[in-house]
Amino acid sequence: MPSVVLVGAQWGDEGKGKITDYLAEKADVVVRYQGGNNAGHTVVVGDQEFKLHLIPSGILYPGTTCIIGNGVVIDPKVLVKELEYLKSRGIDTGNLRISDRAHLIMPYHIRLDQLEEERKGANKIGTTRKGIGPAYMDKSARVGIRVVDLLDKEEFAQKLKANLDNKNNLLERVYEEKGFDFQEIYDEYLGYAEKIKNLVADTSIIIHDAIVAGKNVLFEGAQGTLLDLDHGTFPFVTSSHPVAGAACIGAGVGPTDISKVIGVVKAYTTRVGEGPFPTELKDEMGDLIRNIGHEFGTTTGRPRRCGWLDCVILRYAARVSGLDSIAITKLDVLDNIEKIKICVGYKYNGTELKDFPSSLKVLAQCQPVYEELDGWMEDTSQARKFEDLSINAQKYINRISEIIGVKTAIIAVGPKREQTIVLEKIFENR
Ligand code: IMP
Repeated sequence: MPSVVLVGAQWGDEGKGKITDYLAEKADVVVRYQGGNNAGHTVVVGDQEFKLHLIPSGILYPGTTCIIGNGVVIDPKVLVKELEYLKSRGIDTGNLRISDRAHLIMPYHIRLDQLEEERKGANKIGTTRKGIGPAYMDKSARVGIRVVDLLDKEEFAQKLKANLDNKNNLLERVYEEKGFDFQEIYDEYLGYAEKIKNLVADTSIIIHDAIVAGKNVLFEGAQGTLLDLDHGTFPFVTSSHPVAGAACIGAGVGPTDISKVIGVVKAYTTRVGEGPFPTELKDEMGDLIRNIGHEFGTTTGRPRRCGWLDCVILRYAARVSGLDSIAITKLDVLDNIEKIKICVGYKYNGTELKDFPSSLKVLAQCQPVYEELDGWMEDTSQARKFEDLSINAQKYINRISEIIGVKTAIIAVGPKREQTIVLEKIFENR
């Protein structure tokens, strides 16, 4: 039975929630391995819509174990709120397990994220302001507070005090802001500890045992390749590693435990936040795609920047995550566009670049080289088999696979579970 990593191949918001949800039905375990509540998944089940930020969307299936791995940064307030939201919608959350090694997002992380963005002004990253970067900074600086610490009152008090000494100093002296009160945070967070303590576990063991027992394990990446701290468009990236390799570190398994990697590719490109975006459409076509595709952030509500599909990015994602196949989402959004463009390369300084550049200065000057394809001008949302798609839609899919050298396994033609075309099964029966 395979253990599969699902990663975003673009700048996030590729529709991973829908594909995860689809595969989760046949998965025994679904694991999140990085990021935090900067992510946002919208999953549509029947006529019900669920919005999740932290808890894997597999939670919507009663028999699936869902794991928040050690690589995730957890805002306990958000976690508790999400648990309550799911319970209020009739979803059982008893199958969730939270890594004892995961780091916590504290109120000062959120404040510092906001203050840093304001301080940077025009050079801001455009973060979700959820405290993600500062929480990972503390993890790297070896001063962060982990879930295991939260469950130990003395340890938590000591670590919180040490952190507040430092953070309040920074807030008051550098940012000229009010610091945080120890007792307030201590009491509030112990309240959260009480609510989550029964769900906390050494999750690496659960995942390992599932793999050894031959169960279906799905590792669900958040954000996307170009937001990866090492491989993305630095510094306009997140502070974790959305690429497939990070599943091992963020879940506590070895590379030999992974059998397949699937890249989720939206049929066009979007990005939120700042930074260069070669195929961005700042015209009516961009507005059209944004409106039809409902391209507004699940977490922040921000309008997403929209553009044509960029295969330079996809070739790069295929390489750095070792993609075996791709899942193409939101094909139906392009249903009524007469001529559709695909970017196959970049022109820079009179030469053609085939590979994604590391320098943002270079990227900002890259002109996309387009291939133009005839649109299909037909409703694809009812298609359930590849053959149901009109010939031009088939050509679009085939051309993407051909350019990036990776086969297409799944095509999503709408937000509902049944609006999914499977070309290659990922798990048995799915
Ligand atoms: P942060 O993760 O909040 O620090 O934000 C850093 C960058 O990543 C910003 O450009 C955000 O807009 C972007 N980002 C973070 N999470 C997501 C996501 O789930 N989808 C798309 N962009 C994201």
